[in-house]
Amino acid sequence: IHHGPAALLFGITTAFHPGLAAAASARASSWWTHVEMGPPDPILRVTEAFKRDINSKKMNLGPYMLPSMLKAEAQIAAKNLDKESLPVGGLAEFCKASVEPTLGENSKVLKSGRFVTVQTISGTGALRIRANVFLPKPSWVNHTPIFRDAGMQLQCYRYYDPKTCSFDFTGAQSVLLLHACTHNPMGVDPRPEQWKEIATVVKKRTLFALFDMAYQGFASGDGDKDAWALHHFIEQGINVCLCQSYAKNMGLYGEHVGAFTVVCKDADEAKRVESQLKILISPMYSNSPLNGAQIASTIPNTPEVKGMADCIISMRTQLVFNLKKKGSTHNWQHITDQIGMSCFTELKPEQVGWLTKEFSIYMTKDGRISVAGVTSSNMGYLAHAIHQVTK
Ligand SMILES: Cc1ncc(COP(=O)(O)O)c(C=O)c1O
Repeated sequence: IHHGPAALLFGITTAFHPGLAAAASARASSWWTHVEMGPPDPILRVTEAFKRDINSKKMNLGPYMLPSMLKAEAQIAAKNLDKESLPVGGLAEFCKASVEPTLGENSKVLKSGRFVTVQTISGTGALRIRANVFLPKPSWVNHTPIFRDAGMQLQCYRYYDPKTCSFDFTGAQSVLLLHACTHNPMGVDPRPEQWKEIATVVKKRTLFALFDMAYQGFASGDGDKDAWALHHFIEQGINVCLCQSYAKNMGLYGEHVGAFTVVCKDADEAKRVESQLKILISPMYSNSPLNGAQIASTIPNTPEVKGMADCIISMRTQLVFNLKKKGSTHNWQHITDQIGMSCFTELKPEQVGWLTKEFSIYMTKDGRISVAGVTSSNMGYLAHAIHQVTK
């Protein structure tokens, strides 16, 4: 008998206990009477509140579908392709288009075929098929439930030093899960010399390195550059695992396109690992969805990524500039020091509450904003509002 979330929902423990069964049946007007309300999702709650707001100046800091993707989708639709199920490992063209540019055209791993890549249900699905991890603390909110619900043992390592508002280099001693670039939510990455030291520790202590790459291209605008840490680990002879999401950098949110790659000792080992990955995937979701993978394999290097990364960098600079222009004397340097789409403003929960109530500006309680939602037209309003609540 499982006692996880599914057991809770389906009441397995109660239903199979003879003493409790009578009480349960007397009380039960529905199979679901005993189901408790789960805690609200912090991000969905913000989105819902945003939708209800009627203020014309309201701001949500949310997603954007890329024109090149829309064009690719239209071209695929025009071909009237069939809707056959994909193989368990996903669309071969997509796996190739995903792993080749990421490992780099001169990759020895690619040349020797000592890797396996399978398509997954976005980045979350890629993480779900992986094993026990040490998570950075803090990390993306979904990391803990993904691994916990897969029955894994979780431990953490310190990632962020609030005193310096930067990467806590001393905390990273049991590193296993590594954000490949633009750490979510902190937006601070290890510097190259720190990555080198992490790789040395991982190698020396024979630790396992799992790279989570959900924002490739968003740090520098160059996907290859953003994969630097990954390349370095592989060059050091560390056989990493890689989880990739194309939700943000290809704007394919609802298509759920992701990939999972394992670098192996040799091609033979890769074949064996592949067979086991298929055994894991098959009972979980049978096989991956087709449409998004077809779109993603048409455009291996999304042309807009560079533009988006430049825009993110420029929006950060402009935000600090505008805050100063409004008269703010705070040190906002962390906004420009951080990289990627998530910006940790360091606003307190009560200031966030005030921003929402007074200015219809929506963000999560921890003060994180998505820079993708900031534009030159709403920038002045945002800076004014932040200045008012932080005076
Ligand atoms: C760090 C990190 N990893 C993985 C993911 C998974 O992305 P998705 O399942 O939406 O593709 C996300 C999404 O926000 C993320 O921030």
